Amino acid sequence: MNNSVTVIDNRTGKSYDFKILNGTRGPSVVDISSFYADTGMFTFDNGYTSTASCTSSITFIDGAKGELLYRGIKIEKLAEENSYLDVCYLLLNDALPSQEESKKFDLELRHRSFLHEELLELFKAFPSGSHPMATLSAAAAALSTFHFNHLDMCNESEYQTMARRIVAKMPTIAAFAYRHSIGASFIQPDITRSYTENFLYMMRAYPGGKMHVDPDGERSIKEIEIKALDTIFTLHADHEQNASTTSVRNVASTGAHPYVAISAGISALWGRAHGGANESVIKQLEMIGSVENVDAFISRAKDPEDEFRLMGFGHRVYKNFDPRARVLKNLQVQLQDELHLDSNLMQIASKIEEIALNDEYFVSRKLYPNIDFYSGVILTALKIPTSMFTPIFVIGRTVGWISQWIEFKKSKGTKIARPRQLYLGK
Ligand code: SDX
Repeated sequence: MNNSVTVIDNRTGKSYDFKILNGTRGPSVVDISSFYADTGMFTFDNGYTSTASCTSSITFIDGAKGELLYRGIKIEKLAEENSYLDVCYLLLNDALPSQEESKKFDLELRHRSFLHEELLELFKAFPSGSHPMATLSAAAAALSTFHFNHLDMCNESEYQTMARRIVAKMPTIAAFAYRHSIGASFIQPDITRSYTENFLYMMRAYPGGKMHVDPDGERSIKEIEIKALDTIFTLHADHEQNASTTSVRNVASTGAHPYVAISAGISALWGRAHGGANESVIKQLEMIGSVENVDAFISRAKDPEDEFRLMGFGHRVYKNFDPRARVLKNLQVQLQDELHLDSNLMQIASKIEEIALNDEYFVSRKLYPNIDFYSGVILTALKIPTSMFTPIFVIGRTVGWISQWIEFKKSKGTKIARPRQLYLGK
């Protein structure tokens, strides 16, 4: 077989052929689904560094080139030219919407942004001061009880309704989780406001729905703030088979409700090695405190005996640069004056980046700033509390998770995710 690889077991001299499958872009794969049946052995791949778990047409990443495409369109182009909602439409429908489709989609999500009154009781069950990520994961799972019919979907329009429902409600869930954590009453969605503006409104408005009043009248939400957050949502929308998307697909493979799969994705994203890094980056920059202290922390990050890691640095796939980080870095420069970005934090971040990009330890390990390294400074300038950084990531990523969930459901020949192990016990 020419389009194959041959494995030889040197203990027995026996050889085995495995087919090579080629995609439309990126590395080919060796189909080892019969490896155990043929050889009596499992393959071993700690953390799945060399393992493709599925086929997908949604997002493509070229880690060496620092390239990211959503449905074949470059992230830089989408971040520049399209709203987050249009990107949601693209991920869900494999095409950008026409003007009319965009308007209809926007209106549908505005009308779907409300939560069932009984669901509001769930938020109150959490002690005030709870981390919003715990509440988000619980609320997403609880949402399945209000829409249990989504277990029996069998056509595209039902998939689309299920997906639009949770994409529309996630900002409301996140805002309510935050409001509860600070002991403030919930601000209901305002359907006259756009998706991203509405989230900022639900986060910031006073009880009764009025915004802060300045001497010259009620404070409005600035266009530049809405655009900055909209871009952040777009940059977080999907990212191939990362840890949280893999969790969503694993839960999808057992046949559970789509919203509990999203809950599993939220839980996986919370970890500081994944989406929780954005909150840790800001805490780390604040802990470093000044440019003078950077060297000491870089030494700690390089010390194998010290578990300290430079949050926001490194990536399993990007070994050149994270294109999303570049977009955010440019956005930081654009917003610096208009949003009064914290110059001290930016100086510390720039110093870290300058040292790390020239230090053999980071260069040899191809550790570059990732998306989380830059997002925190902008979110801080948008007056988003650090506890809400990863919930912001959840809002952006929900459409990616649910698009991947639908793709899994529509794929032929999928199986329940059930890896094996190398047993080291008695
Ligand atoms: C996200 O997968 C995705 O696509 C995720 C994401 C998405 O959009 O879904 O892009 C979002 O999660 C971005 C990553 C956010 N996480 C962080 O910023 C946390 C800090 N970074 C790391 O912990 C780490 O880099 C990972 C988890 C991101 C990647 O880990 P890998 O690929 O398993 O790499 P590794 O842990 O094997 O590290 C390789 C080497 C090790 O050194 P040696 O053992 O070879 O001596 O690099 C070192 C690591 O110690 N290393 C770091 C480091 N990251 C890796 N050393 C210091 N600081 C770091 N940040």
